[in-house]
Amino acid sequence: MLKEDSPARFALHRMVGLLRPHWRRLALAVLCMLMVSGSTGLTAYLIKPAMDDIFIKKDVVMLALLPGLFLLVSLIKALSDWGSTYFLQSVGLRVVAGLRQELFDHIHGLSLSFFDKASTGTLMSRITNDIKEIQVAVNSAVSGLVKDTVTIVGLIFVVFYQNWKLASIAVAVLPLAFFPLVHFGQKLRKLARKGQEKVAHLSVVLHESFTGVRIVQAFGMEEHEKRRFARHNTAVLENQLKALRIDALSSPLMEFIGAIGISAIIAYGGYQVVRGTSTPGTFFSFLGALIMLYKPVKSLNKLNSTLQKGIASVLRVQELLGYKSDIVERPNALELTRVQGAVEFRNVSFAYDTTPVLRNISIKVNPGEVVALVGSSGGGKTTLVHLIPRFYDVTEGAVLIDGVDVRDVTVRSLRRHIAMVTQHSFLFNDTVRNNIAYGDPSKTEEDIMAAAKAAYAYDFICRLPHGLDTVVGEQGVMLSGGQRQRLCIARALLKDAPILILDEATSALDSEAEQEVQRALENLMQGRTTFVIAHRLSTVKIAHRILVISHGRIIEEGSHHSLMERHGEYRRLYDIQFQQA
Ligand SMILES: Nc1ncnc2c1ncn2[C@@H]1O[C@H](COP(=O)(O)OP(=O)(O)OP(=O)(O)O)[C@@H](O)[C@H]1O
Ligand SMILES: [Mg+2]
Repeated sequence: MLKEDSPARFALHRMVGLLRPHWRRLALAVLCMLMVSGSTGLTAYLIKPAMDDIFIKKDVVMLALLPGLFLLVSLIKALSDWGSTYFLQSVGLRVVAGLRQELFDHIHGLSLSFFDKASTGTLMSRITNDIKEIQVAVNSAVSGLVKDTVTIVGLIFVVFYQNWKLASIAVAVLPLAFFPLVHFGQKLRKLARKGQEKVAHLSVVLHESFTGVRIVQAFGMEEHEKRRFARHNTAVLENQLKALRIDALSSPLMEFIGAIGISAIIAYGGYQVVRGTSTPGTFFSFLGALIMLYKPVKSLNKLNSTLQKGIASVLRVQELLGYKSDIVERPNALELTRVQGAVEFRNVSFAYDTTPVLRNISIKVNPGEVVALVGSSGGGKTTLVHLIPRFYDVTEGAVLIDGVDVRDVTVRSLRRHIAMVTQHSFLFNDTVRNNIAYGDPSKTEEDIMAAAKAAYAYDFICRLPHGLDTVVGEQGVMLSGGQRQRLCIARALLKDAPILILDEATSALDSEAEQEVQRALENLMQGRTTFVIAHRLSTVKIAHRILVISHGRIIEEGSHHSLMERHGEYRRLYDIQFQQA
């Protein structure tokens, strides 16, 4: 039924691997299916005595027995049908929940370079749509392969037992039915793969247009977004229609092929009954079995198309699971325990792809020192500080903490010692409390309040309708830009790490608030190695040392006063800002 090429085989292998841990439930399901098949075969067989003994011979005993027997067999069939569906589907659901979790866990283990390239919509589509297709395929694969094939075998047995000559005629047409299965299967799989890609594109548009709704409305681009969605929506539809044409054709085609068999059988079987070599009971029992055969054969055919979709999805999910993080821990990576906070960049060069972003940077920062990074936009400041928590690995050189290469310690222990306010303040759609204490349930209300006070967030939090328990909305939309930033600062402060990175942490604050937060930060920088990135040069004066970064190089270095006297890049930037003020 399947083309035996390696990806399909691999996908099937993977599906089997997913099912293996659930073999007990599967065995129960299979047992139930066998009972379904057996009772189905028996029902077909009972047509013969019903016809010959009751209707033709008018046997009273049989008349008393048969209806009851028929009911009993039907009851067994109904119960085992329930069991098979329940046990089987529950396996399908468990497999899929496990896979969804595995995929999510795996994605969260990937480095930022992966997320730079992947789009959120695609990832969401993989975790929802692709996994759903796999679930459907797993369910129908097991039920199809077991229930339907066993039913088919059982019915064929009845058929041959009743009349092997007629049966031979019926079975002779079967290969005719399998030919379209193979052919359609290949086409469907290709379409399914394309289809899932198109659905992923659709999710990208969905995700972007909803998260970016403020820009969409500000630029009056609703119609543009609608058209963009329509384009992708049509692509999905067209692909589905193509698949539907094939899918819809296969069933009537099979039916027609079946009809050829049945008409041949009526001709020959009728001839046998007319000549008296067979009884009408045998013939109708035979025909009954043959008609019952139709359902499982038809669902086997349908199984083919769901399997093809499932295989396409397994391959896509597997592709994602195959991605390896760039950030690999050495097998003998150490736990970074006590950290003094000395940070050194030793001849560091870095490129995201091929174009170098940082070139041969060497800096030594002492424990507790406050270093400011300034310079024109795109110079590489954010990139530089992202190398410390190992968001990316250096292309050349090394980043060292207390003299230890960051690549020699475990990522978790490394990041435990670094607190960060990123350039884009991000908040979860959760309470203020949970945003500040993000992920650390050990923090008490006092800790959270103290951090909020230190970040000058306390006053506005108190004014919120539910205080610390106010939900801030997606990405903190219910707060002002400056309020969001203060929560992010509070979150970093609460982490209480020896190394603090502030990337434009105060850019959204007004001058008054900034001065306040600045004073708070000054206290907090005490005893912590701090990297401050700021465009507003008024905020960097307090740094022990200022590094001016341009085009990936450090071009100036010194205190505010010494740099002012140098009349270089720093002075130029300062003068521009001063004139503006
Ligand atoms: N994830 C990324 N993938 C590829 N290139 C990137 C990525 N992030 C930044 N860059 C490029 O690296 C260069 C340095 O960017 P970086 O964000 O470090 O600058 P910056 O000094 O922080 O600028 P700004 O002051 O505007 O924040 C830029 O030219 C940018 O285009
Ligand atoms: Mg930046």
